[in-house]
Amino acid sequence: MKIVKKILVTLLIVFVLIQFYRLEKNNTDYRELTAFVDDTKPSEEVKAILEKHCYDCHSNKTNYPWYSEIAPVSFWIGHHVEEGNEHFNLSKWDNYKTKKRDHKLDELIEEIEEGKMPLNSYTWLHGSITEEEKESLITWAKEVRAGYNLEK
Ligand code: HEC
Repeated sequence: MKIVKKILVTLLIVFVLIQFYRLEKNNTDYRELTAFVDDTKPSEEVKAILEKHCYDCHSNKTNYPWYSEIAPVSFWIGHHVEEGNEHFNLSKWDNYKTKKRDHKLDELIEEIEEGKMPLNSYTWLHGSITEEEKESLITWAKEVRAGYNLEK
């Protein structure tokens, strides 16, 4: 039993110590979406879907839940936000050329169709995306791509 107690105490100490390691947060005052909205003209419905399911990992402002304060959950969430934004950041739409925008929307359609986005770990606590919501996102993304009118 002594050894079990030692292990538990060690784990507790480690748990307390890792709380001091704070990650840099992705939460500026304002969610920058002007360029993205001007360019892709999402309907109010599409905006609401993106807000509910996507912006936390794909914009410059994440709404952090309380449990994201607790390490090691904070590391895990921080990693998803960082990686999500590295691939696809709607607040940086201005920096994307038309070809890249078109490609990212193509990826979006694919990720949604394959059920990969939003990440499963996110939907556990934030709720799943419905079939109608998926349909709306795909229809909108296809229309925007058709508007770019690039050679396919
Ligand atoms: C919990 C964080 C999280 C949420 C929420 C989320 N994503 Fe992602 N997304 C990621 C991560 C991490 C990656 C990169 C790794 C991967 O592709 O699995 C990614 C990748 C992507 C990519 C691929 C970009 C590329 O060029 O490869 C697209 C498109 C995308 N997400 C769209 C969406 C959409 C649309 C939603 C909402 C319906 C969404 N994501 C919700 C974390 C998230």
